[in-house]
Amino acid sequence: ACTFFYKNDLKGKTVLVSAGPTVEPLDPVRFISNHSSGKMGYAIAGAAEKRGAKVILVSGPVSLDPPVGVACVPVGSCDQMYDAMFDHLDQADIIIKVAAVGDFKPVSVNAHKIKKTGDQDQDHMTLELIQNKDILKAIGLKKRKDQYLVGFAAETRDLETYAVGKMEKKHLDMIAANIVGKSGSGFKADTNKVKLFTRDGHVTDLPLMTKEKVAHAILDAVVQAIS
Ligand code: CTP
Ligand code: CA
Repeated sequence: ACTFFYKNDLKGKTVLVSAGPTVEPLDPVRFISNHSSGKMGYAIAGAAEKRGAKVILVSGPVSLDPPVGVACVPVGSCDQMYDAMFDHLDQADIIIKVAAVGDFKPVSVNAHKIKKTGDQDQDHMTLELIQNKDILKAIGLKKRKDQYLVGFAAETRDLETYAVGKMEKKHLDMIAANIVGKSGSGFKADTNKVKLFTRDGHVTDLPLMTKEKVAHAILDAVVQAIS
């Protein structure tokens, strides 16, 4: 048998990762969500654990098992993810926010199943939504100087402009930008194409590779930045 040895370069560090989609309930049986599979965030959590870190994974509902050795905190809505992230923020040395957070939630959650009226003249239905909290921006404002904060940006165009803009607006140390909607990259795929930007001006254009390799490459860049 062949054993692959991981660098132990995250030993003594606590890494807080968020992954997966958020789910915003409309009524007891319905919700608004997105296609995030959780694969990228789970790959980062697993890779960090193998490199010696203590890992806390705050996860929206996905069909993956948490990586062995990782403490998983399951959440549903953006508000729940916000609370779980802030519950664990103080002890984290590195925070990596991979989750696809819903930008809006229903203004109110119906206590009972929403009924259709049955009236053929009323064939339209309007949902009123309100903006969710920006978890990453709130962490960026609150984090200590010794904590390293990494965000993700999913873009369909103007990758660099939007990603760097988000890094500044949310006070991040690094942003991993990925083009979504192209084959082999993004939400459901096992591979990803990511470009890393750091606050101090480093740019790393990673090739299309498995999410596990992308995870290790992101952690390489983080380790380099903090050491
Ligand atoms: N994010 C967050 N809370 C939100 C929305 C986004 O923490 N309510 C985080 C995501 O986890 C990701 C980063 O912000 O790490 C960027 O998410 P993205 O959807 O690309 O950017 P937004 O700021 O939401 O802007 P937009 O969707 O309009 O492009
Ligand atoms: Ca968004």
